[in-house]
Amino acid sequence: MVLDAPQALDQTGVLVILRLLCHDNRKKCLRIKMIVFRVVFAAFLVCATVYLITIQYWLPTATPPAKTENCGTGLEIPPIGIGTWLSERDKVAHAVEFALKSGYNHIDAALIYKNEDETGKGIQSAGIPRDKLWVTSKLWNADHRPTEATIAIQKSVQDLGVGYLDLYLMHWPVAFVPGGNRVDENTTIVDTWRVMENIARSGLTRKIGISNFSKRDVETIMSICQVCPYAHEFETHPYLQQQEFVDYHRDIGVKVIAYSPLANTNPTYKGNTKLEPILKDPFWVKLAEKKDATIAQTILAWGHQRGTVIIPKSVHEKYIIENLDALNINFTETEMKDIAKQDKRVRMNNPGKKWGIKLFADLDDPTQLDDDDDKEL
Ligand SMILES: NC(=O)c1ccc[n+]([C@@H]2O[C@H](COP(=O)([O-])OP(=O)(O)OC[C@H]3O[C@@H](n4cnc5c(N)ncnc54)[C@H](OP(=O)(O)O)[C@@H]3O)[C@@H](O)[C@H]2O)c1
Repeated sequence: MVLDAPQALDQTGVLVILRLLCHDNRKKCLRIKMIVFRVVFAAFLVCATVYLITIQYWLPTATPPAKTENCGTGLEIPPIGIGTWLSERDKVAHAVEFALKSGYNHIDAALIYKNEDETGKGIQSAGIPRDKLWVTSKLWNADHRPTEATIAIQKSVQDLGVGYLDLYLMHWPVAFVPGGNRVDENTTIVDTWRVMENIARSGLTRKIGISNFSKRDVETIMSICQVCPYAHEFETHPYLQQQEFVDYHRDIGVKVIAYSPLANTNPTYKGNTKLEPILKDPFWVKLAEKKDATIAQTILAWGHQRGTVIIPKSVHEKYIIENLDALNINFTETEMKDIAKQDKRVRMNNPGKKWGIKLFADLDDPTQLDDDDDKEL
């Protein structure tokens, strides 16, 4: 077929021009096709390189993709909750019912506390509408694998009698082999976080979060999460302030839930440190007098004012009411600075040694294993 120039221009496609140029010479035609192919391929390589460079150097400084559906959205966690660790089975139902009827709307529970069924009875007796209540529970270490995790959250929801949880936490960044307390080296926190994400998608909990993580562990989860942690529950109080760590969570949009907010008041911590009970600490005694409040209220008020969610545990009506009133106490900037100086950087709760795991590695008062001691000698 022979085309004249006007016909070629009319049909501006490359193939038409090629045919026009080489219709009578097969070798010449092949050469031209090779040249065109190389030009197109080179252009493709240039475009791909520019695209990759753009992704690598520009996008990280832009707004991250909207994968953080769990961060800071929806119903907010109430500023104070009632703790239930070591609450006796025959006392916790009344404590929870009394707390809810007195104005609390937030309960901190966990499967490993072995009292969620009794806690649930307290919740039912209080008769608070479900959507006015915040209930947190936690995935125990032996339940990190998918099947165990599904059974575990179903049990917590059933025992608590709430239909769904508001927050489900990975209790520790440590997996045990199911059914025991031997560390499961094959299950990472990323594996477990994927399980947590699927639990969140199942609707059994509104939000998911973490507990007792080091900063590096938090960073790991933040870098891989599709559903991001809503909250991080960890030990923090005037004797273990970890202000930088608290500020870091504010910056990344993860709420801090302060456990053991009364420092060494929990009797189970007796003997863990040489510190005198905080409720007898002259600094806090004096500050409480100044504020016309109890010492416990004054300590809890500081936890509240620094922006952490506080979850004091008590099974006594007097303390339960007293602790709620902590929300009405305020400190001046100077008082907050004075309290900051009271930090002892001492941790009360550290089962890492028992488990042979270095917990809190980049935080104050991390786990010291025996082999660390050997190295130091
Ligand atoms: N995620 C975790 O790994 C983790 C770890 C630890 C704790 N937590 C959670 O955090 C909650 C609170 O921590 P915690 O139980 O260790 O310690 P806490 O709440 O700091 O202290 C509890 C102790 O303080 C006493 N108390 C409470 N209010 C008081 C007041 N106004 N005056 C004097 N004493 C008062 C309680 O007494 P009575 O009980 O005798 O009334 C109890 O002995 C736990 O219950 C649990 O829900 C979570």
